[in-house]
Formats: sequence, structure tokens, C-alpha cells
Amino acid sequence: MTVHLVNSSPKILHQAALLIQQGGLVAFPTETVYGLGANALDPMAVAKIFEVKNRPRLDPIIVHVADFSQIDSLAASIPEKAKKLMEKFWPGPLTVILPKKKIVPDIVTAGLPSVALRIPNHPIALDLIRQSKCPIAAPSANPFEYLSPTTAQHVMDQIGEKVDLILDGGPCSIGVESTIIDFSQKVPCLLRPGGWVLEKIEKVIGPVREGIENPSSILAPGQMARHYSPRTRVNLISRGQYRENASEKIGLLCFRAPSRSLHYGHIEILSVSGDFKEAAANLFSALHHLDDAGLQEIDAERVPEEGLGRAIMNRLRKAAGQKNEA
Ligand code: TXA
Ligand code: MG
Repeated sequence: MTVHLVNSSPKILHQAALLIQQGGLVAFPTETVYGLGANALDPMAVAKIFEVKNRPRLDPIIVHVADFSQIDSLAASIPEKAKKLMEKFWPGPLTVILPKKKIVPDIVTAGLPSVALRIPNHPIALDLIRQSKCPIAAPSANPFEYLSPTTAQHVMDQIGEKVDLILDGGPCSIGVESTIIDFSQKVPCLLRPGGWVLEKIEKVIGPVREGIENPSSILAPGQMARHYSPRTRVNLISRGQYRENASEKIGLLCFRAPSRSLHYGHIEILSVSGDFKEAAANLFSALHHLDDAGLQEIDAERVPEEGLGRAIMNRLRKAAGQKNEA
């Protein structure tokens, strides 16, 4: 299978849209992370996403659309609060879960009666959806449980030979995945903290319950311990609790620039000034660098859990989750 890593000229976008229409897989940039896209209404095409990612079939996929009119064809109903959020925060890093219409194939929702929907805020993603003339199902374009890709090169390195085309839109500006709010239950629930911070969301719709209402009935993102994990072991450390004499084989992920010189084999600083936005944008690239550095362990410094810090800490906790021995 041929792989192209290309800048996204109109001609290439046209080719990408044709590939989607023909049931192919196209990796594309969004403002959060790169997605691995297929025609959401074509179950065979969506099945290929699960194969390439090695993703369990019980983990449902977000459907990406370019405008509100497409939502009506996919969602059976839209609660008032969901509508408010969508109007305020789309296009952008927000995913809403709504009751689905029949047209959405079961493979997309893993048999759930709800569908996850999002309008991404990226010109290439929006052009691709419009030109393909169909909603695009797309998880993050990484192997299941591994770090999400925030550059086209990450996609290339991880699953490059298994996709039909990778559209290169440069590094993702937000760098952590969308915030997921579930409106298919009685009260809105935050299933995953992400690019739109909870504080802003609650200003628009009032209190949001954190976590899921009925965990046994639904598979929530990140319920799996090793989501977003590098291969190298990650230890969470408190702010400033660096090792005094770390060996060359130990790496460090700092939230902000440390105030003294440190001895680690490889150090990545998320944001010199401790800015959450910059830190989120650098998070996955920093973890990719550390994971590629041949280290035995990575110490990851906790960040304050407010604003985007929630999404960052959520990913760091997952990165530090239990590993399989293999
Ligand atoms: O920013 C993002 O959301 C990126 C870009 C590509 O849009 N996508 C992304 O997709 O992060 P993925 O598949 O890596 O994470 C989506 C999560 C999954 O863990 C899945 O469990 C959850 O959304 N999900 C999808 N549909 C759902 C549903 N109907 N009910 C509950 N959770 C759902
Ligand atoms: Mg993912």
C-alpha cells in the first residue's frame, strides 16, 4: 500500500476525499490531535479503523462533521443544554454524546444507542469532511493505548504503512483531545477532560457531573488503564520533587522550567513559563521524545488540576497506568 506524507494542496484534498468515498483510510489533522478517518456511514471502512489501531470493537468512535445540518441527520434528539454548548464551542475541542439515529452504523457506536459528535476547528479537517460529502468517523491516529499523535510524522511512524494517505497540517495547536460531555443520560456527564476546560463549559450549562452515571452500561474513554501510554514506565512525581542523582537512563517531564540544574538522561519542559495552553500543545510530543530516548523510566511532574491542567493530568495518570509485562 502506498503511503504519502504530503502538504495538503487542493489536489491532495480532492484525492483524500475520493479515498474516503471509496472506503479508504485518511489520517488528517485537527486542532486537538491527528485523526484516522473513514466514512462514518460505511461499516466496512470503519472496520478497517479498528484493525489498523488494533482497537477493541467495544470502544466507540467519534463522528466528525463540518456543520450543524449534518448533526440533525445523525442525532435523534438534542437536549437544550447540548445545543447551547454546541453553538458556543463548535467548531472546537468539544465532543457531545447524543442519542443516535438508525443511520449511524452499530460498529461506530460499539452497539451503544448514542453517538459521539464533534465539529473540529481545523481548515483541513473541515475541507476533508465537506469534500467527502459524508460524516467522518475518526479516533486518534495511534495504535490502541499508545500516545496520541500531534504531528503527521507521529502518525507516519506509528501506523504509516497501514493508511492510504496522511494529510500533513503541521503540529496540532491544542495538543490534547476534545472534552467529551455525555448528554445521553439524565444529567450531563464529563467523560473525558480535554481542550475546552470544564470551568468554561459549566459557565454555559451549569454543573456537569464528573465521570459516568452508570459505569457498567457504557465504556467510557480512558477507563482502560493504559490509554495514552508510552512504552517506557512513567512515574508521577509531585511538583519539584526531582531525583538528586538520576542516572542517564532516567528521563524527566517538567511542567515548567526547573529552578536548579538537574541530572537526568533526557529532560522535556512542557512550558518554560508554566502556561497551560503551551504545556498541553507540547504534551504528546514531549512524551514521544522521551519514549524514543531509550530510557528505563520517566518521571513526570504533576501539574495543577485546573483549566487545561485537568486534561494534562488525566493523560499523565493514564501514561503512568499499569503496564502489561510484554
Ligand atoms: O480530539 C479528539 O476527540 C480526537 C480527534 C481526532 O477528534 N479524537 C479522539 O478519539 O480522541 P478517540 O477514539 O481516541 O477517543 C474518543 C473516545 C473513546 O475513548 C470512546 O470511548 C469515546 O470517545 N466515545 C465515543 N463514542 C462514545 C459513546 N457513544 N459513548 C461514550 N463514549 C464514547
Ligand atoms: Mg485516542
